[in-house]
Amino acid sequence: MTHLRILLLALSGALVTASAPLVLHGTFRDAPPPAHTGGFGEPTCHACHVGSDLNDARGALDITVPDYYTPGASYGIRVRLKHPEMMAGGFQLSIRDASGAQAGRFVMDTASTGVTTLNGIAYVHHRRVSASTNTDSIVWTFDWIAPDRAGSVTIHSAANAANDDASPLGDFVYAESAVVNGRAHGTPVSVPGTIKRPH
Ligand code: HEC
Repeated sequence: MTHLRILLLALSGALVTASAPLVLHGTFRDAPPPAHTGGFGEPTCHACHVGSDLNDARGALDITVPDYYTPGASYGIRVRLKHPEMMAGGFQLSIRDASGAQAGRFVMDTASTGVTTLNGIAYVHHRRVSASTNTDSIVWTFDWIAPDRAGSVTIHSAANAANDDASPLGDFVYAESAVVNGRAHGTPVSVPGTIKRPH
């Protein structure tokens, strides 16, 4: 473990001095660049991570969201990425109203996810601590506080099941979306629905 850490430090030192773009690597592992959900005209992680077509059939990106939301209520959202060849993985997710404006807000309940905001849109994403795996799936959970008003919101998520080779090659990218309608009144739905690939 100590040796590995020293080796990694030596390697990252070498990368920092080697070339400027490589310095960004650590950043990408901790947080993907925002606005890559595949929604509202955004690209997906495919903009950089290549190696297969979108939504490779051997894996899946499952997003568990409420069937409906009650304005102001809090909901647990679960993102599960699965691929037999995955050694590292990450995701990014946004929730916007029909006009593309931010809908509600995110609350992180663990250190495994973070939020990066760009142009008023909050992008929740993996953090470095949750990007590695020695099984074929990674699960991320966080809370979403629904907007104060009823209306329909759209969830967009893109994810990358990577081979952990510190390069954007040989990776499997997934993209999903789901619509959740807000109820002005009524009982909060406690049984979440699961959206599965394909749309
Ligand atoms: C602008 C280019 C770019 C985009 C867009 C991008 N990445 Fe990356 N990402 C990289 C580079 C370069 C690396 C390799 C360096 C590293 O490991 O940090 C990387 C590494 C990773 C890693 C570490 C695993 C590995 O193979 O090294 C994960 C996980 C990851 N990206 C997830 C994502 C997700 C999820 C998205 C989309 C929401 C995304 N990335 C979009 C450039 C990008």
